[in-house]
Amino acid sequence: SSFASRRGSQSGSPPTGAVKGIGSKVAKPDYSESKIVVAMVGLPARGKSYLSNKLMIYLKWLEYDVKVFNVGQLRRTRARQRAQKEGVKEEHNASWFSHANKQANESREQLAHDSLEMLIQWLKDGGNVGIHDATNSTRARRASIEERVKKEEGMSLIFLESYCDDPAVIAANVALKVSSGDPDYKDVPPEEAKRDFLRRISEYEKVYETITEPHLSYLRIVNVGSQVTVSRINGYLQSRIAFFLTNLHLKRRSIYLSRHGESQFNVEGKIGGDSLLSPRGEQYAKALPALITDNIGDAPLTVWTSTLRRTIQTAADLPYPKLTWKSLDELDAGVCDGMTYEEIEQAYPDDFANRDDDKFNYRYRGGESYRDVVVRLEPVIMELERQENILIVGHQAILRCLYAYFHNLPQADLPYIKIPLHTVIKLTPKAYGCDEERYALGIDAVDTHRPKPKGPSPVIQPTTARQYFADPQIVQ
Ligand code: F6P
Repeated sequence: SSFASRRGSQSGSPPTGAVKGIGSKVAKPDYSESKIVVAMVGLPARGKSYLSNKLMIYLKWLEYDVKVFNVGQLRRTRARQRAQKEGVKEEHNASWFSHANKQANESREQLAHDSLEMLIQWLKDGGNVGIHDATNSTRARRASIEERVKKEEGMSLIFLESYCDDPAVIAANVALKVSSGDPDYKDVPPEEAKRDFLRRISEYEKVYETITEPHLSYLRIVNVGSQVTVSRINGYLQSRIAFFLTNLHLKRRSIYLSRHGESQFNVEGKIGGDSLLSPRGEQYAKALPALITDNIGDAPLTVWTSTLRRTIQTAADLPYPKLTWKSLDELDAGVCDGMTYEEIEQAYPDDFANRDDDKFNYRYRGGESYRDVVVRLEPVIMELERQENILIVGHQAILRCLYAYFHNLPQADLPYIKIPLHTVIKLTPKAYGCDEERYALGIDAVDTHRPKPKGPSPVIQPTTARQYFADPQIVQ
């Protein structure tokens, strides 16, 4: 094997034989000191659950323990339990949400209170960020949440208001609520559901007080992406949350992911390196522009590549502005760079077995683990949230990580996601989750996917699939 060509090789000289020992495992960061209550604020249909979920996915990506406590969900669960026990079904139509309805008012306060108690208990049991997904739309409610959280040492509280007066966004959210099989309107005809939901909103509007309390920590987001007020944000995690939410937008856009064309190293079965494209890879680079321009039409697009020659060569003919990111370089295989899997197995049998055992955490000697890559991709994720149409011409491990972020896939599955060569994956973020389309260009290439040797491959592939994270009852 060409040991000399190894990028990142520490000594530059080949190992003398099989090396015993194991590659290191990277520990999960210690976030035990972080305990934050994020309390949502806003009228119904203002995208609170959307923001809660986006924030949850982002912080989970950074390995914080995050959970959304959705009060609507608790209300439905309790109502179902009561109906089973007592045989009476409580109607949660618009009148139940009227502040003139004293009894319902008490029930709603109780639910918000109980949900907050569950959240606080969960934080005490080791969670980092608990998101209270409720309307919390009056000063009195916010004051009571503040009082309660104050009692807990080391816990902080920020309010996150989603204020929206854009009729198009509200109408889209209302339509989503009544058409997506929302459990509140399961057996209700859409027109009736819409009428009732609009009445519910107007009940809330009567008592709604936007957040201005000067002593509270809060973020007030106006029409997602157009204006943000940040007040009394303290500390690292709170700032990070604020920065992320400031960068979000709701405009429709797509993220295209493509690996570089087949490289000379791919053909030889070698990992890493900085080789150029094979003849078939060059063919892919020639065919890619037509596919992209046909798909996107006149819309603007920016192409991101890594600093490695195979991605730059693949993107060369694309008629769009280009940006090169060091953070998009392929997972660094350290001393194994430039070797085939067989050569690695022979030279470092223990390492090889360890990688199969826990591929996400395994760090190559002198190189990286998938977990390391996830950390270095954070600025890329942040920038992707800010941007509109982007095509990333990247690498197998890098695109797995980005793909897992957008589909919210678990860490253990991430290193086995299939990202074939000569295929464009188009992701279109939706209110909850992402739509996906795949375009195979029909140019042959080697298969570089190495399945998990023991047991079946754990990955569920969502193709053209929609995933809902908001409410377990509507998971498809
Ligand atoms: O084989 C192509 C490649 O991009 C290598 O450069 C890289 O080491 C590898 O894929 C990552 O995939 P895996 O983590 O499955 O080995």
